[in-house]
Amino acid sequence: MRTARLRVFRPVPAPVGTPEGTPRQSHSVHATTGGSVLSREQIQIKTPQQVRLMRRAGLVVADIHAALREAVRAGITTAELDAVSAGVIEAAGAHSNFLGYYDYPATVCISVNDEVVHGIPGERVLTDGDLVTFDCGAYILDDDGTQWHGDAAFTAVVGGTYRSETDRLVDTTTREALWAAIAAVARAAAGEGSGRELRLNAVGDAVEAVVADVAEREGLELGILQEYVGHGIGTSMHMAPDVLNYSVKRRGPRLRPGMVLAIEPMLTAGSPATRELDDGWTVVTQDGSHAAQWEHTVAIVPGGVWVLTAPDGGAEGLAPYGIEPKALG
Ligand code: MF3
Ligand code: CO
Repeated sequence: MRTARLRVFRPVPAPVGTPEGTPRQSHSVHATTGGSVLSREQIQIKTPQQVRLMRRAGLVVADIHAALREAVRAGITTAELDAVSAGVIEAAGAHSNFLGYYDYPATVCISVNDEVVHGIPGERVLTDGDLVTFDCGAYILDDDGTQWHGDAAFTAVVGGTYRSETDRLVDTTTREALWAAIAAVARAAAGEGSGRELRLNAVGDAVEAVVADVAEREGLELGILQEYVGHGIGTSMHMAPDVLNYSVKRRGPRLRPGMVLAIEPMLTAGSPATRELDDGWTVVTQDGSHAAQWEHTVAIVPGGVWVLTAPDGGAEGLAPYGIEPKALG
């Protein structure tokens, strides 16, 4: 998903139950019509039963992640990895929310090294040390034919050894930023804190704090993407609100049970400026610096969060913050 300052470059969310793949009227939609933190577009509030349906989708996405981690190695093509993802989705009886999304041609986005997001799988052969982001998604249908979506991303290094210390730092910091943001949302759900700590601002503030900490500790300034943001998710993949990875003055909506957010920090090891390749999708850094992205679909439940795309609901990722996920069972 993308946004630029106050302009929101993303499609208008489909109404509940509408199939994906509505034609791309325009690549950009103004915030006043497209919905964002700056608009009053309603945030879909899920019932506990709907959150359980989204957990099913989330676990399919977790299965895709596990299969890709297993399959990724030097010599494999990104198209072969897309086939792995497609196979998991099909075996689960789920559906791809990426394939056909504004004509996107695959079930996964695979972004290598200086590619940040939306890399299209193809004949590219991965080699040891490549820093690769896999962004995966799936939806399931409930008995009424309504779609319930999951969306999650991880970065991995092919062969297990980073090519540089910078690659290691951009990856580990992005992962830490994700969990710090999820922990901040969990604390808000538990009613801890005040003011913007109880609002959507908690996400961007947490990401910025982690990035500032690394800059101080390691002397490495990482770039936070501003043109691409996280999003609400539910009966379609991209819904209100936009989930910014940076701090803004304006007060975001109050975090409350029933909201489900795709939190997805994207960091570069240099300038956050990006450009889109001629394929109309692949986003690369302008300065050639490498990038990472980590994402989970996170449900806010009474008193905490349930990380729907993590098999353990977020237990391991939240443990360093002294927080336990609250599964609805
Ligand atoms: N998960 C991606 C995001 O939130 C969506 C990818 S859509 C696709 O930005 F069409 F590129 F697959
Ligand atoms: Co997403």
